[in-house]
Order: sequence, then C-alpha cells, then structure tokens
Amino acid sequence: MTADLVQSESSRPDNWWKSSVVYQIYPRSFADSNGDGMGDIPGITTKLDYLAELGVDVIWLSPVYRSPQDDNGYDISDYRDVDPTFGTLQDLDALIAGAHQRGMKLVMDLVVNHTSDEHAWFIESRRKESPKRDWYWWRPARPGHEPGTTGAEPTNWESAFSGSAWEYDEPSGEYFLHLFSRKQPDLNWENPEVRAAVYEMMNWWVDRGVDGFRMDVINLISKRPGLEDEPPIPGRPYAPAFGAVANGPRLHEFLNEMHQEVLAGQNLITVGEMPGATVELARQVTDPARQELNMVFTFEHVSLDQVEGGAKWDLQDLPLPVLKANLNGWQTGLAEVGWNSLYWNNHDQPRAVSRFGDDSAEHRVNSAKTLGTVLHMHKGTPYVYQGEEFGMTNSYFTEIGHYQDLESVNHYKSALSLGQLAEDVLLSLSVKSRDNARTPVQWDDSHQAGFTQGIPWLTVNPNYVTVNAASAVADPDSVFHHYKKLIKLRRDLPVVVEGHYELLLPEHEQIFAFTRTWDGQVLLVVANMSSEPADSPDALPNVAGAELLISTHAAASGPLQPWESRVLLLSEAG
Ligand code: GLC
Repeated sequence: MTADLVQSESSRPDNWWKSSVVYQIYPRSFADSNGDGMGDIPGITTKLDYLAELGVDVIWLSPVYRSPQDDNGYDISDYRDVDPTFGTLQDLDALIAGAHQRGMKLVMDLVVNHTSDEHAWFIESRRKESPKRDWYWWRPARPGHEPGTTGAEPTNWESAFSGSAWEYDEPSGEYFLHLFSRKQPDLNWENPEVRAAVYEMMNWWVDRGVDGFRMDVINLISKRPGLEDEPPIPGRPYAPAFGAVANGPRLHEFLNEMHQEVLAGQNLITVGEMPGATVELARQVTDPARQELNMVFTFEHVSLDQVEGGAKWDLQDLPLPVLKANLNGWQTGLAEVGWNSLYWNNHDQPRAVSRFGDDSAEHRVNSAKTLGTVLHMHKGTPYVYQGEEFGMTNSYFTEIGHYQDLESVNHYKSALSLGQLAEDVLLSLSVKSRDNARTPVQWDDSHQAGFTQGIPWLTVNPNYVTVNAASAVADPDSVFHHYKKLIKLRRDLPVVVEGHYELLLPEHEQIFAFTRTWDGQVLLVVANMSSEPADSPDALPNVAGAELLISTHAAASGPLQPWESRVLLLSEAG
C-alpha cells in the first residue's frame, strides 16, 4: 500500500471532522469516463481538481461495491470489490490517492443493515440447514395461514419500497425480512458472527486508506424484539414498518462494539443515517463519552413538507417558522453534548433549491446562495450534494416512463392499484421522487451536459444549457463562488465551527435570522427566505460598524430583497 493511500494519524487530528465540509458523490450520475452512460470512478478522478477548487474537505462516495444495482448499489453482493459499472479496485485506490494528494479525505458508504440477495452470505442462508441461516431474518408463515398465500406474511409490515416487507422463499417454506426491496434482505445483527464479519470488512477498508463511513439506515440494525404487527391502516394491505422496528434495544451496544472493533484510535469521520431518530437519540449516539458515532443524519426537517402521519408523497406546505423551530431544536439539543450534520438534500431527497428555495429563472441563483448561507452558518458539519454547489434543480419528470428509481416506480404501481389517480401520483413524484436528485451532473452546455459521450442512464435535465458547472465557475457571482466563500469562512473563522447558536425572530414568516457567538465574536446571519421583499425588523441587532462577510446583494442593512442574505461580523459579544 502506498503512503498516499494510508494517511498517517496526524492527517486526522482529533475532531477534524467538526471543521470539515463534506461533498457527496452519487457515482452513477457524476461523470462518465467511458461513454456507457453511467458515471464511474475514473470519471470522478477527473473532477478532483474541481472539488479541490471548491474547497471541500471530504468526499463521501455513495456505494461503488459490487452490486446487482437493484437499488443503485445500496444492494451489495460483495463488500470487498468494486462493481464493474464503476471500475476496479485499482481505480478506487487511485481515487483515494488523488483525493489525499489534494488534501481531501474519502468516506465510503457502509450498507450493513442489509445485503443483496445475491451476496454469498444470503445465498448460503437460503439453505435451511446452513450455519448462515440465522444471519438473516427467516420466519415461518403467520400461524393458521398457508405459506405463500395472501395475508400469510409473518407481520403486516410494508417495505420502504411498497409491498410486504417479507418475501416468501418456496424451497425452504419460510419468509425473509427485507425492509427495503426484496433484493435487499436484512442482516440479523443479533448474531455475533454477522457483527464480526462486518467489522472485519470495515477494518479492511480502513487499512486500504478510507477516512470514514457514512452508515446507511444504521438505526435499523437493532430491531425491536417481538416482530409484531403494526396497527393496520384502513384501505391498505400493509403498514409502514420502521416505527415497529427501528432503534431496537441493542442499538447503542452494537454501535459501541463497532467503535471498539473498528473506529477506536483511528479518528475517522462517522455519520449514521437514522430515519425516525429524535434529538434525544442523536445526543446519545453522538456523545463522545459513549463512543458511538460522530454525527447522525436526521430526517425531521426533510419530513416537514409531508402530512403528519402520512407518507413522503402526501404533500403539505412548509411555513418558515416550522422549519426554523425544527432546526433550532437540533441546534439547541446538541449544543452541549454531541454534534449535528447539516444538509438540505442528498441522493434520496429533491433538490434543495427546488424544495426550499425558488428555482424560477428569476430567483434560482439567489435562493440557492441563501440556502447555502443559512445551512453553512449553522453549527455542525455541512454536506453538499453534487450539483447543489451551482444550483441544480429538480427534473420534474412528467411521465412514469422517465423514472428509473424503484421507490418511485413501485409507488406508482401500488398507488394506482389502491385507486389513486395517475395525475395525482405523477404530481407528487415530480416533487418528491429521488430521481430529481439523480439526473446527471451538468458539467457544461455540450452534448449531454458533458456528463457522457453516450446515452445517459437517466435523462439529463434540459436546463443544463444555462445551469452548469462550467458557467458557474466562470462567473464570479455564481452559486459556485458563493459556496466556495462559505467553505473558506468555515476554515478562517472558528466562530463558524464553534459559535453558540441563537435563533432570532422565530415567528417571522420570511426572515431566517440567528447569531453565532464565540470568543468575543458575534456572527449575525439574516436571510430573506421568500420571493417577496422583506422589511428588516427593528428587533435585529444593530449592525453599525459590522463587517459584511458574505452576502447575495451589496447592502449590509435595511430592507431585504427576495432571497437576499447577509452574514455580518459584529465587533463585540453582548
Ligand atoms: C438509505 C439510502 C437509500 C437506500 C436505502 C436502502 O436510505 O440512502 O438510497 O435506498 O437506504 O439501502
């Protein structure tokens, strides 16, 4: 192994991840080097200078492991190899080395709540007498039901991707659990051999030079005992399962064990994806004294625009005070103990500027900048999702044939079978489908946005002619340069990393304002989060003599233009 690959311990000083900005790459949509229409690792390597120019510290790679690609790589059939779609292990070594040479770190996605059904472990587990039978969740049919018939599933749980969470396996006469697609069987973490195998694999990657892990749905690894039915939902055959399953009693024990076996002494960055996690749970998991994880991804702020108790497809408006209250709860809840991750979007969420901003030609640039400002000035580690840094928008597909994501395609079928109108379902898909975030990165205004020489696996957003990285890099007033400044501010000013957070004007319908205070310095952030002008309320601190650090417009005080934001450094605390 070369010195470039495995970095010395001093390259990962204590808490380095607190002052870092992470950039997420969804490899199949990032950059295609060989013209097959699918992004790949050599394609990523060609863009390392671009990422270094943006100034990010860490690259998080969504899965590139060997996989049948049922869920675009979140279904892994070999944890120690790279899928030929994306390249080879040597390509990955070269990417890690290239990142390290430029002072960036690399984080792997760790998907260990489930494997692919084509993983050797699961293939073995299918034999009833196999020693690996217990590595997955096999259960007999519901008592009194003929196995394989309707209603015979062991519980009424619905998979996250529609339909039952149990798949009948005829040869063995039993069902296996899959909280996601039926090609993603859940591993049984109660079995110590499973845990040992996962830790061994993680250590193999640490030895290979990776700097941390983003842990996929990690709060599902410990399941609540009993595996009982959820309260039925009228008119629907199954009920969402996460409530019944997530955050089982051994979650902390497993995470702590993983820490002992893999993470201790390595100073890696670790972030756990935790649907349904509360601030309280996050505080426990990220309390350094407990030795579990550095930070978690909450789902609360990205669930506020759905009807309470409904599914992600059940849309509702999101008033600004509600969003502010939620983010404030996480800021104050993790102020003394623990650490926040900060994100507006990722490969599972719609594009930030389309969802929380205004992606019209008039407001796209300023709303993307202002969203970036508000997020990056919060306390925590910011995550930038590919294309966010130059304001990529939703694709808003209008036909079901455009969608590739199995969640979207399955939901469409299931909703229609339950009597919903196609036009209603297409509307919610156009707003919420994961494919909104997965269209190819728009590098320039050439053929297929410069993403591929071939035919892209998912249609390129036609707005690539104006919305693309090359034009943003060339324009000093672009979203790209704004993000670059935000990232630099974090590096230059400890108050951005450490400052105590205080929300101002919690009830204001348009303005998002807060301060960060540290060591005699006060940062004031004032942002108009609407497409209408806003008066600057008297209740805000006096900014006379303050230094304007970053803004969308020239003014440092007075009324705010639509999507105008300012960050000011006030001279004295108090
Ligand atoms: C996570 C991933 C998502 C995937 C799911 C199952 O939520 O982010 O893309 O489909 O887990 O692995």
